[in-house]
This record gives sequence, structure tokens and C-alpha cells, in this order.
Amino acid sequence: MKTGLFYGSTLGAAKGVAELIAKEIEVDIYEVSNGIDDVSKYDTLILGTNTWGYGELQDDWQGVIDAFKEFDFTGKKVAIYSTGDQESYSDTFVDAIGILAEVVEKNGGVIVGYTSCDGYNFSESKALRDGEFIGLAIDDNNQSNLTDERVKKWVEKLKGEF
Ligand SMILES: Cc1cc2nc3c(=O)[nH]c(=O)nc-3n(C[C@H](O)[C@H](O)[C@H](O)COP(=O)(O)O)c2cc1C
Repeated sequence: MKTGLFYGSTLGAAKGVAELIAKEIEVDIYEVSNGIDDVSKYDTLILGTNTWGYGELQDDWQGVIDAFKEFDFTGKKVAIYSTGDQESYSDTFVDAIGILAEVVEKNGGVIVGYTSCDGYNFSESKALRDGEFIGLAIDDNNQSNLTDERVKKWVEKLKGEF
């Protein structure tokens, strides 16, 4: 069965990452502004968001987060990415990964696709656990030259973990 990729993007970067992922692995892509009912159809999920406000979820995700909290993620493997800006938002860099992961884990799901935080420069992030990101951090504002490579590497890892 395919993986369901659900993303919300304000300026287009998280959407661009979804499109890069789709080149590397078979996914059904959903924009969360159209609803998230189909989340329950998938055993493997990729969730994409930006981090906005000050350490908040992307706006469309905010609109569906209450419904998202109602899903039972037991038996599901979930990978999460967030776009962000490590220079301007060094204290809340890609916090949205941590926000979504908390819901998934509370509701029985397993987070896969941890990545190293080597090569980034920030102060704090809710996406960190034991020195690693619990998802993929993409910074198109400051490191757009690394985006393709980071996505490819991550998807290869996911293929082994899904
Ligand atoms: C008003 C505003 C608030 C932001 N807050 C954060 C933040 O708290 N943490 C972070 O890592 N990035 C933050 N960013 C950076 C965005 O996440 C970044 O520009 C991202 O690439 C946007 O993704 P999108 O193009 O998919 O909307 C913020 C950007 C704006 C404009």
C-alpha cells in the first residue's frame, strides 16, 4: 500500500518538499486545507508542515489539528518534516515537527525518519530528541542548496523504516 503524504504550506516550500518526495517514493499527496479524513486509510504516513508564528504549526494544520488529535495511530509509522528558518527563528527552529510527533505518539503511533542535526546552526527546537531531529528539517531560506540532497537521503532512510 502507498504512503499518504499530508502537508500544509504557506509560502510553498513545504509543498516543494512534498513534490521532491513524490519523485523518490510512491505517495498519495493531500493538502491538509482540503481535509484530513483520509489519514486513517494509511499504515505509513508522511506529514509536512512549516513552522510559523513563533514555534507554531502551519496555518492549515492549525485548522485541522483538533480532528488530527482524534485519530488512532496504533500500528502506523509516521515520518514528519518541517520547513523553517534557523537564522531568524533560532529558538523555535522547526518546532512543528515536535508538535505533530507528540500527537502521533500520544495516540499510539511510531515516529520514523530521525535525522542528524549536524550541518544546522540553531539554539533550540522541539524537534530535537537525544541530540537528533525526530524528522526532517528543511531550511530553504538559508540552505536551499542542501534541500534536494536532504530529501533524497531522508526518503532512502524511510524506505528502510516503513
Ligand atoms: C511570520 C513567520 C513566522 C515564522 N516562524 C518560524 C518559526 O517559529 N520557526 C521556524 O523554524 N521558522 C519560522 N518561519 C520560517 C518559515 O517556516 C519558512 O519561511 C518556511 O520555509 C515556510 O514554509 P512554507 O513555504 O511551506 O510556508 C516563520 C516565517 C514567517 C514568515
